[in-house]
Amino acid sequence: MENKLNLTLKVWRQADAKSKGRFETYKVNDISTESSFLEMLDIVNNNLIHEGKEPIAFDHDCREGICGMCSLYIDGRAHGPDDDITTCQLHMRKFKNGDTITIEPWRSAAFPVIKDLVVDRQAFDKILQAGGFVTVNTGGIPDGNAIPISKEKADESMDAASCIGCGACVATCKNGSAMLFVSARVSSLALLPQGKIEGARRAKSMVAKMDELGFGGCTNTGACEAECPKGISISHIARLNREFLCAKLAE
Ligand code: SF4
Ligand code: FES
Repeated sequence: MENKLNLTLKVWRQADAKSKGRFETYKVNDISTESSFLEMLDIVNNNLIHEGKEPIAFDHDCREGICGMCSLYIDGRAHGPDDDITTCQLHMRKFKNGDTITIEPWRSAAFPVIKDLVVDRQAFDKILQAGGFVTVNTGGIPDGNAIPISKEKADESMDAASCIGCGACVATCKNGSAMLFVSARVSSLALLPQGKIEGARRAKSMVAKMDELGFGGCTNTGACEAECPKGISISHIARLNREFLCAKLAE
């Protein structure tokens, strides 16, 4: 059943990367419990525009949990008070009438704030670029099943490949580590024969780039796994460590 919520929002506002930020308080009324969190922000922005004020900048694209753009820290949790979802999949039925909601951008040295709730996540793109290519023989069309892969390995690889690069793992980690993200990318390929060819170079380059870009080290707190909207397992971090160590020993 649809209910209406009257809410108080404390939203981080910051004009640009160099300006000092601050929390601004906004009242918003008659929000349907059936609307999404981002639709609620759309309503707030519509109100602000009608009042001649600057709307709140926030990132989003697919609004379906696919693109990883919607990076909000809500009431102290990456992607808000629900499990295994992105911010765009968060619904207002998770909140109560009269709630005060605090909304912040990802807080991490490697993800500087660009404006309000928008952060620069190019560091992830640079790590992916450092990972480089996968060799693919573009000759004749190979038969399906020509390269046997066990169901267990294929499933694990697909689970790792479901990482959407949102950055919640970095924002949640007290060290600002990107190990869950990097391990998911390395694992998804390392588990498949096609990905093994450049495996050693990939693991070394991605870890080197991650260190260069100022991400912190992993101390196995497991916070990243707990807040990852795609349920990426920290077992992939163990695989990344193995891949990296083997690559270094083979030098
Ligand atoms: S590992 Fe999870 S939290 Fe980290 S970037 Fe990928 S999907 Fe987001
Ligand atoms: S807007 Fe694409 S995952 Fe949320």
